Amino acid sequence: MRRRVLATAAGGTQVGFVPTMGALHAGHESLVRRATSECGAVAVSIFVNPTQFGPREDFARYPRPFEADLERLRAARADWVFAPSADAIYPPGDATRIRVAGPAERWEGAFRPGHFDGVATVVAKLFAIVPAATAYFGEKDWQQCAVIRRMVTDLVLPVRVVVCPTVREPDGLAMSSRNAYLSPEDRRRAAAIPAGLERAVEAWGRGDAAATIEADACERLSEAGFTVDYWRIVCEESLEPVDEAASGGAPRILLACRLGGTRLIDTLGLARR
Ligand code: PAF
Repeated sequence: MRRRVLATAAGGTQVGFVPTMGALHAGHESLVRRATSECGAVAVSIFVNPTQFGPREDFARYPRPFEADLERLRAARADWVFAPSADAIYPPGDATRIRVAGPAERWEGAFRPGHFDGVATVVAKLFAIVPAATAYFGEKDWQQCAVIRRMVTDLVLPVRVVVCPTVREPDGLAMSSRNAYLSPEDRRRAAAIPAGLERAVEAWGRGDAAATIEADACERLSEAGFTVDYWRIVCEESLEPVDEAASGGAPRILLACRLGGTRLIDTLGLARR
């Protein structure tokens, strides 16, 4: 994989890279399309990374529809699919982890201890194996993007990170491989997430306080049957709650909530006040 990417780049073709865990949907396709529109060759990795799942999380049942994924990637005109074994990524004796502090500490980092160590470690390994000029990630995983950007800056990795807009279902639910876990009834209820985001955008535009908007959003999600892990308006660079943020960066909603056994996350940028 590395030889191919380096030879292609040496021939003057820009290489783009889309790292994924498979179970591809229109959100991933939009990343691949963006990559093919900007780069002469595009690599996509499919690897369900064990180290980013907690012991009670869904690693074993994470969907792995490999043949359907290949079909999608063929249609989206990806040039290479890199689907390594777990041993190739974590060889016997594996003893190295990358831990990003700062942006990895709150929110997902607090609710999923070790998650971002796993993400940073596998992404650094994938960047070493697929030395592309540009890598594409989805905005839905905003905190993940912040962690990866921090790591790229701190480790001086020679890759440009591009964050692409969230792709949503017709009712506004952000596309996610985990949406497949929802029962039809829960899938209907999940529309409360984008509805809450829309309501928050209006309230923010009216000048309501962040704490009021957050409390209202949590209450409505609870009424719809969700357990809310967090629903906060944060500074999109520091990821600190806007009420506590030292610097006045652009505001953004970050949320995670659970319905049945399914955990969903979402995010939306807000206008600066
Ligand atoms: O966003 C994902 O699918 C994963 O976290 C990633 C970046 C492919 C690392 O396993």
